[in-house]
Amino acid sequence: MLVLGLETSCDETGVALYDSERGLLADALFSQIDLHRAYGGVVPELASRDHVKRMLPLIREVLSEAQCTAKQIDAIAYTAGPGLVGALLVGASCAQALAFAWDIPALGVHHMEGHLLAPMLEEQPPQFPFVALLVSGGHTQLVRVDGIGRYQLLGESLDDAAGEAFDKTAKMLGLVYPGGPEIARLAEHGQPNRFVFPRPMTTRPGLEFSFSGLKTFALNTWQQEQKGDASDEQTRRDICLAFQQAVVDTLTIKCRRALKLTGLKNLVIAGGVSANTALRQGLEKMLGEFNGQVFYARPRFCTDNGAMIAYAGCQRLLAGQHDGPAIGVQARWPMEQLLPL
Ligand code: KG4
Ligand code: ZN
Repeated sequence: MLVLGLETSCDETGVALYDSERGLLADALFSQIDLHRAYGGVVPELASRDHVKRMLPLIREVLSEAQCTAKQIDAIAYTAGPGLVGALLVGASCAQALAFAWDIPALGVHHMEGHLLAPMLEEQPPQFPFVALLVSGGHTQLVRVDGIGRYQLLGESLDDAAGEAFDKTAKMLGLVYPGGPEIARLAEHGQPNRFVFPRPMTTRPGLEFSFSGLKTFALNTWQQEQKGDASDEQTRRDICLAFQQAVVDTLTIKCRRALKLTGLKNLVIAGGVSANTALRQGLEKMLGEFNGQVFYARPRFCTDNGAMIAYAGCQRLLAGQHDGPAIGVQARWPMEQLLPL
């Protein structure tokens, strides 16, 4: 089955062609980062308008890269939520219009299920069951995964998502959007142990997270140290390192707890923050103690992309699922509501 995948939940237009027999044939992405950078974050209206402009050229691009014609496509998978409603509607209406014109089925895919299954596109995919740490700009969740659609939420953030904490902290430090990669870059030249940030909610039991206090801690540290000198580059780097280390340690402590609780040995990390090298290293070290393994996607497939939507959609379409002709998207959509395969 050849599936066209469309992702438009936020600030990336992602398009891909995935074939159930041959694997990923092509994927193309347009990132709107430059468009939103001047505003320090995503402007929903601008995002929707840009998806409209990019979608058809990207579809043509993947068809040409895969040397396929539109007639060969068997089904269309698109992100139906969670995300920005206007942005989601662009992908949904485009998918439904093309599905109608080509007389093929369309299926709305859950964005976080896409992220969760992205490591399946790699050469050594994880086997079910596993624990998944989903860390993106909008979500921080620990999930027990027994199969596609068989998700049990173990814990999540009570306030900011991990990626959101990176982005907000970066903004306060005067860094550009998106903050995650910027903080990671500056942290490489940070001096260890100059600042020590708290590891929120790690001293009490449970698998919940809270990251909103870290940005305040970063702001207070920055204001105290800076003393009116915004050009103190080394202090900025040292704060980035201390902040990143606090996030990595906190996530690692909670992942260890989730593995102990479930008795599982394999951990999947997915979503934009799973591209973070320090997080990967921290988790790999911890998994070493467990004799377990950590799985993640290549960096391009950690952040938003069309390939993960094409892959996740393909699994569900193969099982016979598809939507009716109505165009419907959901800003909020708990993953546990998904049907098991
Ligand atoms: O999954 P994603 O592309 O979009 C959402 O579904 O939210 O994640 C974007 C988030 C942003 O908050 C961004 O700052 C963060 O992922 N991110 C990173 C890194 N790359 C992206 N955070 C930390 N380190 C990185 N290398
Ligand atoms: Zn995402």
